[in-house]
Amino acid sequence: MATQDANTGGEMGVVIVSNRGPVTFSRNELGEREHSRGAGGLVTALSAVSRRGNDTVWIASAQSEEDERVAKESLDEPYEVEGLKIVLVEHDGEAYDLMYNRLANPLLWFVQHGLYDLPYTPELGDDTKRAWEEGYVPVNENFAEAVARTLQAQEGVEGEPVILVHDYQLYMAPLALRKRLGDGAFISLFVHIPWPEPEGWRVLPSYVREGVLKSLLEADVVAFHTEGYARNFVRTACEVLGVEADEEEGMVRSEEGREVWVRAYPISIDPGEFEELARSDEVLQEEETIQSLPGKLLLRVDRMDLSKNTIRGFHAYERMLERYPETREQVTFLARLQPSRGDIPEYAKYAEAIQKAVEEVNEKHSTDSWQPIVLSMEDNFPLSVAAYKNYDVLLVNAVRDGMNLIAKEAVVANEKNGVLILSENAGAHEELGEHALTINPFDIDEQAEALHKALNMPDEERARRAEALQETIRANTIEEWAEAQLEDIAAYRERRD
Ligand code: G6P
Repeated sequence: MATQDANTGGEMGVVIVSNRGPVTFSRNELGEREHSRGAGGLVTALSAVSRRGNDTVWIASAQSEEDERVAKESLDEPYEVEGLKIVLVEHDGEAYDLMYNRLANPLLWFVQHGLYDLPYTPELGDDTKRAWEEGYVPVNENFAEAVARTLQAQEGVEGEPVILVHDYQLYMAPLALRKRLGDGAFISLFVHIPWPEPEGWRVLPSYVREGVLKSLLEADVVAFHTEGYARNFVRTACEVLGVEADEEEGMVRSEEGREVWVRAYPISIDPGEFEELARSDEVLQEEETIQSLPGKLLLRVDRMDLSKNTIRGFHAYERMLERYPETREQVTFLARLQPSRGDIPEYAKYAEAIQKAVEEVNEKHSTDSWQPIVLSMEDNFPLSVAAYKNYDVLLVNAVRDGMNLIAKEAVVANEKNGVLILSENAGAHEELGEHALTINPFDIDEQAEALHKALNMPDEERARRAEALQETIRANTIEEWAEAQLEDIAAYRERRD
């Protein structure tokens, strides 16, 4: 995603910054370097964007020992892998742990997805303050340092740089970058998770609540996946900081008078990438496993995250089996769940609870030739794509979700006119809800009925809905997502100059 500088006609350097990189490196038994795809939807989408521009450099945290070696090698020049130029950043181990395991994932993630049980949690105190001061803020500063270093090392790139910062792990980066790069640099921060209403944001201690907002208002554009999140952000900034805004226009004026555009760009995927993957040998091989499962295929694919609502999904499925006994042995529920954030106690507990819920349903309902739920936790992307191709029903019942790209990837790869059951609280619902079966993620009865309806839907209706879903996704691909942002960057700069 290289872009033309309106003033000089030269190429501007575009830098993508995110905590999770596109790949994680490791060593195999022979001591050779290997890499596997990073987790989560953000990586899927940014990889597609990043490959498009020769000058785009992607800066991310080193996560493994081998990543740290790559980090050292990428100090002078970006490391090239799978058509991407990446720079990995090494952080102080303790600071990173505080940022990731104490501040970003439990606190910010929980507040923004509404996952706390507020009468009891969270209990905020000195630990939170330490995680902020000794973890979150220094890690963000370290990222800004790496961006400045990378820009300095880029030769032949003219004009002011464009820095596209991504997600809640990096909320303090706009402030840290502005300090280093000055007013001319274009900085955007894309929030990939929901933004709560102002009362929700107020759960945070004042230094986080205000600190994050002040930093975000050092950016030129703050972006979200839906209009709803963008609106919540504008209201939160006004109520918490007392700044002025034009809600209609999507503009907030910072305390220093900076005009910050607040925009919604619904993220998407590269359909071509999934079509190609769907035809690959690895996927074709995995399809044999998928096709050997008895009956219709009900599928879910998620990270093991509390926001994904996995357990209620199993309970809803069980309710359907009990209410409609004729569906037994006629369907298998394949749950592809990728272990995630296991060092955080809430996540470890949730992973155990998921396994227990699966055991309970299977113990109660299995027969000699049928297991109602097949839990698959291996790190195997081709297997997920093979499942995408073959599902009859896809369940996405998130409590809340910024977008949920599984809903888009799976629909594009599916060859069975599969039915999408979609939570009304997933960002994807704004675009896809009309052609999906909408559910309230908290209502097990409604989900059980939706599962039964989807599994028994007449072919004609399945085809009609699947076609409409495909069309909607193909009308807004990752290409349009990137394009819309580039247009706004140009418009923003023109207005400022
Ligand atoms: C979500 C977040 C991303 C994150 C991904 C995987 O999609 O929005 O920022 O990278 O989950 O989570 P992880 O903690 O493994 O990076």
